[in-house]
Amino acid sequence: MLAPRDVLTRPLEEIRAEFPGLAGAGVALDGAAGTLVPAAVTEAVATATRFSMANVHGEFAASALSTETVASARRAVADLVGGQPEGVVFGPNMTTLTFHLADALSARWGAEDEVVVTSLDHDANIRPWTIAAKRSGAAIRWAEFDPDSGELPLEAFDAVVGEKTRLVAVTAASNAIGTRPDVSAITELAHAVGALTYVDGVHATPHGPIDVDALGADFYAFSTYKMFGPHIGAVVAGPALLERLNPAKVAPASDAVPERFERGTPPFELLAGVSAAVDWLAGLTDAGGGRRQRLLAALGAIEEHLNGLLSHALTGLADIGGVRLLGAPRRRTPTISFLIEGRTPRDVAQLLAAQGISVWDGDNYAFELMRRFGLAERGGAVRASIVLYNDTSDIDRFLEAVADIARR
Ligand SMILES: Cc1ncc(COP(=O)(O)O)c(C=O)c1O
Repeated sequence: MLAPRDVLTRPLEEIRAEFPGLAGAGVALDGAAGTLVPAAVTEAVATATRFSMANVHGEFAASALSTETVASARRAVADLVGGQPEGVVFGPNMTTLTFHLADALSARWGAEDEVVVTSLDHDANIRPWTIAAKRSGAAIRWAEFDPDSGELPLEAFDAVVGEKTRLVAVTAASNAIGTRPDVSAITELAHAVGALTYVDGVHATPHGPIDVDALGADFYAFSTYKMFGPHIGAVVAGPALLERLNPAKVAPASDAVPERFERGTPPFELLAGVSAAVDWLAGLTDAGGGRRQRLLAALGAIEEHLNGLLSHALTGLADIGGVRLLGAPRRRTPTISFLIEGRTPRDVAQLLAAQGISVWDGDNYAFELMRRFGLAERGGAVRASIVLYNDTSDIDRFLEAVADIARR
């Protein structure tokens, strides 16, 4: 049952029934790699392919519809994470957008400059910066997380952020071990020396309320396919900041912000799905106020639901002999990486799949993190990730299966 019931208008069983993909899917604990979508999103995408395939800015009705589809998706994203619609840049996924922005930002870097990345991050918020830094002559400084605790403390930035820092790239939540660093404090430190901040919100966005301004994120990047929407990435930034950048683009394409960052024709049907996913999330509550307020309320309730499932899972795993958890961060998402003694992560994932339970194994592109754990060359870890549509019985089945594998 979802708690608090007074925020969400329908019980979890009804919400689950809105995900056609859950039928016959067994126990889906792979949400951190991509969530299922509710039927409302599938329908919005299908409807858009019927009516909204024309390109934007034409003088006829179908084109006007596409123009509105894009504008509406920008408004939806700004309601979801904060910021202004005029600062929402869409692209194929977070990785592509981050490489694109790294190109644009690094045009101003030189040998005197430094860029800070962290070992907690997904490689999509590391490699675009290390490659761009190398090309421009800037130095890379690493803020290291602590593999024992799984924390990325503010002190990790004290030694590496300074007058030369141009950009600090940090995740709002680890897609491997769930750690939620104190992003507001980190961005404050960065801003104090005049550096920009690039926050990876891919893993954080589906797990609780987000406010890009409160986070101090000059750029906030995420992907809607991790939050019940289609395969699209978005970066949210202040329009004035985007105006200062000159990304590579074709000459006839609009030079306006944010369009100048978007290459080629956008996937209109998927953008319709983005709006539908945001509307669907907002529709989980009839709490008063506009869509932004309803999203904050719904995501707050979702976070509470997820915290309940997380503590159930962690307590259960702690009781199973031979299970080792990676890290034990205090503030975290319900995403758990673990090992079972005597088994490779691939073995465990296969045995769980045989029991109808979907989990990922490997490094999940948290490559530097797995290296710090000494696991990058050894198959990484098993990752179980819990999202909105999981329930207590999913966790019970998962715990029973893990206990069974550990006993064999
Ligand atoms: C935390 C995190 N950052 C970045 C990415 C990359 O996102 P995308 O697949 O949209 O490029 C992922 C994908 O798994 C992720 O989990």
